[in-house]
Amino acid sequence: MRVIIKEDKQEVAEWAAQYVAYRINSFKSAVKKHFVLGLPTGSTPLGMYNELIKLNKNNAVSFSNVVTFNMDEYIGLSADHPQSYHYFMFENFFNHIDINRKNIHILDGMTTDYVKECTDYEQAIKDNGGINLFIGGVGEDGHIAFNEPFSSLTSRTRVKTLTESTIKANSRFFADDLSKVPNQALTVGVGTIMDADEVLILATGKNKARALKYGIEGAISHVWTISALQMHPHGIILCDKASASELLEDTVNYFNDIEKKRY
Ligand code: GLP
Repeated sequence: MRVIIKEDKQEVAEWAAQYVAYRINSFKSAVKKHFVLGLPTGSTPLGMYNELIKLNKNNAVSFSNVVTFNMDEYIGLSADHPQSYHYFMFENFFNHIDINRKNIHILDGMTTDYVKECTDYEQAIKDNGGINLFIGGVGEDGHIAFNEPFSSLTSRTRVKTLTESTIKANSRFFADDLSKVPNQALTVGVGTIMDADEVLILATGKNKARALKYGIEGAISHVWTISALQMHPHGIILCDKASASELLEDTVNYFNDIEKKRY
């Protein structure tokens, strides 16, 4: 696992955007037509999306050959609901880049057949040759996508009931009204994320420090689903100093030293 510690969230945003652009630009495959990107919502990736929009406008990267799969969606919110992840993605990213809309995949929170929706989603990922780079954020309780504590580390796309902690944390997007936050979501599984060729998890802010401590220094455990990244051959945690603040000094020195020696 690589852990890259940047000064602040702006540096995290810039590094992440440059990395995504680099991966897309250097993509070559004899078998796959498109570069396949897994994408998150939340406040953490917003800076990265802004930077990618700039890179796209400056012709430094094009999304014309990119297929995307979003991580999750609330059950019961339609695509035009301002708090839905559909709305978030179009508002903050897709409307501003040169992506072909046919290449965008987001789980349908209004479906009446959850099992079919989730099975079809997994199949669509397969049909596109798997995900090259899955980008994610992390919840305060260490969840990735909506894989709450005690989710199976081999889970696939499915319905997940949200914990009180997640509902509370996400209520800031619903005018701080806990009763407005849906109790359930459709989400890719930990196994779905781990199947990607590469996984990049972004974390910023002091409120993520505990999740990073358990995820990086703790044992692999379904209590902190982010810890599954320890098993991934190409996992990167890109974080700012505040979210790295509960890591041991030795841990920080180790990862900083390794990064300095990379070329
Ligand atoms: C939600 C999303 C996660 C996201 C997390 C953290 O629960 N399902 O994918 O990582 O929130 O969000 P934020 O970046 O706003 O802290």
